[in-house]
Amino acid sequence: RPPRIVTFAGSIRTGSFSAALAALAARELALMECEPVLLSLADYPMPIYDGDLEAEEGVPEAARKLRDQLARADGVFLVTPEYNAGLPPLLKNAIDWASRAKGEGDPFKGPVYAIGSTSPGGLGGYRASMSLRQTLALGLNSLVLAEQVMVAGAAGAFDSDGGFKDGRALERLRAVLTTLIEQAALRAGLRA
Ligand code: FNR
Repeated sequence: RPPRIVTFAGSIRTGSFSAALAALAARELALMECEPVLLSLADYPMPIYDGDLEAEEGVPEAARKLRDQLARADGVFLVTPEYNAGLPPLLKNAIDWASRAKGEGDPFKGPVYAIGSTSPGGLGGYRASMSLRQTLALGLNSLVLAEQVMVAGAAGAFDSDGGFKDGRALERLRAVLTTLIEQAALRAGLRA
């Protein structure tokens, strides 16, 4: 079977640049040797993590579902916006809850991760990408590709069709996704 690559963004805002990058990645993945799955955290609403809530009610259904989506993936392309030089709470909270849910497979050690980030500013969400890398690689023992995609000046980066205006940015995205598919297939013992 082709490797299953899950993609989602750490923003559910209408017109989100991170969601635009996740959607473009899913569109590109659809042209490659894989099974792309585009998710939105809007479909996985969760309260802010609280240990008392977990003790009383357990892990929310949405977190268990997201956990299972990740555990079933061979590769994950995660796109983060940058809030105050770090991860937005929506994404951190989803990861934190998913890390608390039990089930089949391992959502963080199973798939290979690749990171994307966006910002209307000049740094392309670089600092948030490092904070996501720290959470995944140091906190959850995930394998995270060194290669990543950063989209600076995101407000002007996409054309009306959802593609990149800059051809080099598209080449970069394709290169990272190609590596993700290859590594995901290798790790899962699949043929890319
Ligand atoms: C931001 N923004 C921002 N941008 C950035 O490049 N570095 C930063 O540190 C911050 N900090 C920040 C804090 C808070 C609380 C907000 C709400 C926003 C701007 C941010 O990149 C912008 O709002 C993006 O549009 C958010 O990503 P989405 O929703 O477009 O994916």
